[in-house]
Amino acid sequence: MMSILILNGPNLNLLGTRQPEVYGHATLADIEAMCREKAATLGIEAGFAQSNSEGRLVDLIHEARERHSGVVLNAGAYTHTSVALMDAITATQLPVVELHLSNIHAREEFRRHSYIAPVAIGQICGFGAAGYGLAIEALVGHLDGSGTT
Ligand code: DQA
Repeated sequence: MMSILILNGPNLNLLGTRQPEVYGHATLADIEAMCREKAATLGIEAGFAQSNSEGRLVDLIHEARERHSGVVLNAGAYTHTSVALMDAITATQLPVVELHLSNIHAREEFRRHSYIAPVAIGQICGFGAAGYGLAIEALVGHLDGSGTT
């Protein structure tokens, strides 16, 4: 069975209480449950992980190669700073869908630049927790050939 990893970066463990006006009221546990439901609907397996540490996220991308066919990545603030995460994606050649709850293009200028975007198959942002479902659909479409990318 196809398996994908949904990987979350720094501060996303605080979802639900962290700036709900920006990131919504869903907790990371709510989002995980929603992702698992979506995966079941699509007939795939999904791993789900979160870390506040950049190096741990690099390790998880490396390890994903052994078990997963692709990654949905919300890298949080590391999106805007991490050459290491960009290089990990390039090194593993895993297809990655970049995801953000908020519309990073409509916020502070520094959030408009993403180190992930040039090595991702696409980016979904601005749709809150629903974006996770959209990203899973896009990744699975890419992997099974039914999508356009
Ligand atoms: C985020 C956007 C980032 O700019 C921010 O640092 C986050 C969350 C989002 O999901 O909207 O931590 O990735």
